Parts: sequence; structure tokens; C-alpha cells
Amino acid sequence: QEKPSCMIIIFGASGDLTNRKVIPGIHSLNCESRIGTNTQIIGVARTKMTNEEFRDSLEESVKNYSRLKPGKTTYCEPWDSFAKKITYLYGDYDDPKTYQNLVQHLLDLNQKFKTPLNYLFYCATPPQLYPIILRHLAQFKLNQNRDSFWSRIIIEKPFGSNLETAIELHKVVNSIFTHSQVFYIDHYLGKETVQSILTFRFANTIFEPIWNRNYIESVHVNVMESVDVGGRGNYYDKSGVIRDMLVNHLLQLLCLIAMEPPPRYTSDYLRREKIKLLQSIKPISCSNFAIGQYHGYRSEQKISKDSNTPTYADVDLEIDNWRWQGVRFRLSSGKKLAKKETEIVLTFKQPPFSMFSTSLESVCKNQLRIVIQPDERIELKMLSKIPGAGMKTQPMKLTYLYSQGEPLPDAYERLLLDVMLGDSSLFTSAEEQRLSWKLFDSITDHGIPIQYVSTLGTNSLSSLVSQVNYLLPRKTDDIRVL
Ligand code: BG6
Repeated sequence: QEKPSCMIIIFGASGDLTNRKVIPGIHSLNCESRIGTNTQIIGVARTKMTNEEFRDSLEESVKNYSRLKPGKTTYCEPWDSFAKKITYLYGDYDDPKTYQNLVQHLLDLNQKFKTPLNYLFYCATPPQLYPIILRHLAQFKLNQNRDSFWSRIIIEKPFGSNLETAIELHKVVNSIFTHSQVFYIDHYLGKETVQSILTFRFANTIFEPIWNRNYIESVHVNVMESVDVGGRGNYYDKSGVIRDMLVNHLLQLLCLIAMEPPPRYTSDYLRREKIKLLQSIKPISCSNFAIGQYHGYRSEQKISKDSNTPTYADVDLEIDNWRWQGVRFRLSSGKKLAKKETEIVLTFKQPPFSMFSTSLESVCKNQLRIVIQPDERIELKMLSKIPGAGMKTQPMKLTYLYSQGEPLPDAYERLLLDVMLGDSSLFTSAEEQRLSWKLFDSITDHGIPIQYVSTLGTNSLSSLVSQVNYLLPRKTDDIRVL
């Protein structure tokens, strides 16, 4: 495979994302020699720091979060030698001088290391800064592909906070970069197990005939997190779980599970199928979702004391097309739950008849579980005979473990490499984002009547959360006001 060499310019270089994901991802790519040895990483942020201070601040993150540990994994170069590829520039994002310095710095690096003038810009700042940064890139002509050199930009979510603001963002981006230069990152698409949904569905013969309303009763995309909001209160309290998780990560998982087979594995075909699927989802009504907030949320840092931002949501969707008519799709996600697990569960219909003594009702339904994290695996739940006399049945599982001991590459690793190679198959399009917002705007923006309940309204939830500040169950009659 071609080894791309470029200048990776990270705006928001002193932030958490850079520390935990972007730099460790580049580090692992470098260890595995997937990128050119003269690739340069330039951090830009407002904090005053020297190159050395910046490098020191990253050393611990790489040790903690990189899949391949510096110096330890045999083929991984020691930290000091990787650190030489990293430099830092400080400045305000709205000051043209910052970009003037950047231009000069890029030319110097090109002279010194012969790194080609390919630019990969990474917007890892708060989203309100995106337009400011983009306009300055245009002012200094850093947005243009030149001769054989390219300029590309990665934009992190949130892509707006509703349909209207997403459209505004797309307008700014499209006025500065062309379609093929822009990479909107949804890191769930870079997870190995998420990509494997495509091969599971479309590289095997046996699943397609049963992948529809005739055999499948329901599909549940369930992303449980054990972490709380941590230090991200400022962002999260304005966003909440629906904007933070459902509109992007969970809907993207749903698209891969439910879309029609694309004719080829290319970004355009994949996007086209995802768009068709999103267009087929019926508008969400107030009676088919539940929201909740974990106990203690209002005492977290930077969270308003009377915040009603939901940290848990559970939404039922219907897909109005031939394949999925009548099948219930549920998306659930929450923070500070009993465990971290991301899974997609497909429940099949009950067999039509039981010839054994067990009653049909007690016969378990077949279930296919695609466990995306933390223990990546695919499980098929079936009934089998209990060995010995008689004809008694018991549930059993066929399990395929996706990882064979070695840690799987992190999503950011894969996605960063794809951008350097110019492959946007695993990135979302502006059209997908608009359709996703359109679907959820009805429940995020039109004022949900938040009520308080003393206990949990649904059984499935009570096993997950022990105490909540409130829960608004899916049927409004269930609400008990304290
Ligand atoms: C991010 C959200 O996009 O995804 C976070 O902003 C969330 O709130 C995270 O915790 C979950 O990602 P992962 O890869 O840990 O499942």
C-alpha cells in the first residue's frame, strides 16, 4: 500500500481529543510504517507552550492510549524519535498572524524534511471556531489543492446542533473546500467491528435471505457507557445524549444494519444507500421515546444545577420500506450506566410451531448479537438439545471472537489513514447529517415536557441505572410527578 506523507495540522492541539485519540492514532500508524517517515505533526492552540512542553504533554497520552507502546512493541520507535516529528505553534484562531506563521512553518518543514506540501487540517476545537479557522485557511490559500499536492480537512462532530445550524456549517465548509476535500468524522464508522457489519452482511450468502421483516422481529442498537460527562460539561449540557450519540453514532450503526446492499464498496455508493435508508425512517413521535438523567449529573463540573439535559435516551423507529415494514428498531444510549457495552441485537421471530414438550412461548427466539465493544464478538443464540434422555432443549450460543489477542486498531487510526489516502467511504456526508437532524429535531428542539418520576418506569432501565434525577418514559401517561 502507498505510504502517504503529509503535514498534519491539528487545531485544538492542547485539547482532550488530540491527546487521547489523534496523536496516539498517528503514533500507531507511524509504528506500523503505514505513513511516510517524513510526515510532520503541527499542533496549533491558544495555550503558550514551547515545542518541548507540547511534546512532553503528549508523551504520557501516547504511553496510555496508543495501541502500540513506544519502545516496547519491537517495531515501534522510541518516544524521542517520534517526538521530533511534532512541533507546536500558539496563537489566536481569529488572528491572521497565526496563519501567517503557520504558512512559514510549513515551508520551513518542507525545506528541512522534504515533507510534501500536502496539508491535512484537523478541526479538534470547539465547533464555534470552525468557520473562523476555515475562513483564515482560505485567506492564506491553504485550502487549495496545488499541482500534485492536496489539502484536506477533517471536521469533528458536532456538525451543528440542529438542521438549521448544520446547514449553516455546510454552507461555510462548501464555500471554502470542495466536496472531495472534506471529511466529516464519525469515529464509530472507523471501529473494526462496525466495518465488519458490511462484510458480515454483504460477503456471505446465508444472511441476506433472512435479513428482513419475514424473519426479523426487532433490532436494538444499544450503546451503554459507564463513564459520566467528565470534564466536558460545557459541551454536554447544551447537547445531551440525543445530539451527542443518537443523531450520529447510533443512526450510522442503524444505516449499516438496515441499508440495501450497495453495488460497490465505494464512498458514493455507500452514502447513497445510507441516505435512502435515512429518508425511509418515519418521523419520531413523542410517544415513542423515553429520556432520563443520571443521578448526580447536576453536581458534575460545569453543569447547570437545574439542568434537564437527558443523559439517557431510548427511541423507537419505524422504517417505511418494503424490507423493514413492521419491524421495531430501537436506539438506546446513556452515560453512567452499570457497564460499557455497545451492541446491535437482532431478534428473530418465534418458530411457527413447537413439536417438543416445551411450549412455544418458552422457546427462546433466535438472536444475533453484534458486540462492537468492549469484547468484540458476534454471537448467535439458538436452542439445542440437553444431552441425555428425553427431548429437552436449552439455549446455547455460537460465538465468534473478533479479536485474536492483539488489540484492534483504534477507529481514529484507521480514519486518519483513510484521509491521507483520500478515501471517504467511512465518513459521513452533509446530506446524511441533514437527514439525521431532520429526524431528531422534532424531539430535541420542540421542548420536551420534562417531568420528574420517583422510580424508573421501565424494567429494562431499572437493571441499568440505580437512581435517576428523572425519567420520562415512552408513554406519557406513565409519568409520575414527584
Ligand atoms: C463521542 C461522544 O462522540 O463518543 C462521547 O461525544 C462518547 O460523549 C464517545 O463518550 C463514545 O465513544 P466510544 O468510542 O468510547 O464508544
